[in-house]
Amino acid sequence: MNALHWISHFEINTRLNHELQFPPVVCDLLERERQAIVRSIAIFQLGESGGGTRLRRYTRSIASLENLRGYRRAVDLFVAEEQSHAALLARTVGHLRGTLLTKQWTNSVFRWMRDLVNLEFNIQVLLTAELIAEVYFGLLALRCTDPVVQTVAKKILRDEMGHLSFQRDFLFERLKLLPPAVQRLWRWQFRAIHFATAIVVAWDHRDCLRALQITPADFRARAVKCWRSFQARLERRLGEVQTETCAASEAVSAQR
Ligand SMILES: [Fe+2]
Ligand SMILES: [Fe+2]
Repeated sequence: MNALHWISHFEINTRLNHELQFPPVVCDLLERERQAIVRSIAIFQLGESGGGTRLRRYTRSIASLENLRGYRRAVDLFVAEEQSHAALLARTVGHLRGTLLTKQWTNSVFRWMRDLVNLEFNIQVLLTAELIAEVYFGLLALRCTDPVVQTVAKKILRDEMGHLSFQRDFLFERLKLLPPAVQRLWRWQFRAIHFATAIVVAWDHRDCLRALQITPADFRARAVKCWRSFQARLERRLGEVQTETCAASEAVSAQR
């Protein structure tokens, strides 16, 4: 894994979030839309506001691995970028005259799930949230008419696309060590958890989606499309490793 690439990426990119200027406008969304959208954004704000304590603790356990050198530092910067999203979303909630949340049930379930198994599972749950965020912020950027929401959603969307690549790089390093049958099992449970999450989020944020003129079914379909695209890229890389391994073992057999 090229952790140095990610370290310099996060160092430059996160600074832009601290400096992001909001358009000087007052929110003039219809009252029903404003309430639905601000409630929904406040939930995502809470989700982005974690301190990354458990993730950092997990990364200590793999810090000595040669192929993940620098990963710990990259994760520290990744967590800082997520916190900059929390700050941007908190400013957006203020702009929309809403209230920040300190607790919300879907966020509590996410936090509980992340600690269930190991680092890889923690990353997978994070990744699931990021795949959902890709759809969510993409829709906000396209469909919400408020210029502040559009500005923030576009920036977070770009950042989350980077996060997906970062998580894919890490998962590739871990999954390539597993036999193909175990990789298939991992794929199955990842798909099931992602789809269940899309159902829950589409239901929990239904009022916001309605304000954006999106049905829960459409949201779920977009979420599945994003998952497929992510997984296809990951599997392409894993497939290349398998092909190389097969070619190497055939070459060894031929020499005998
Ligand atoms: Fe984020
Ligand atoms: Fe993220």
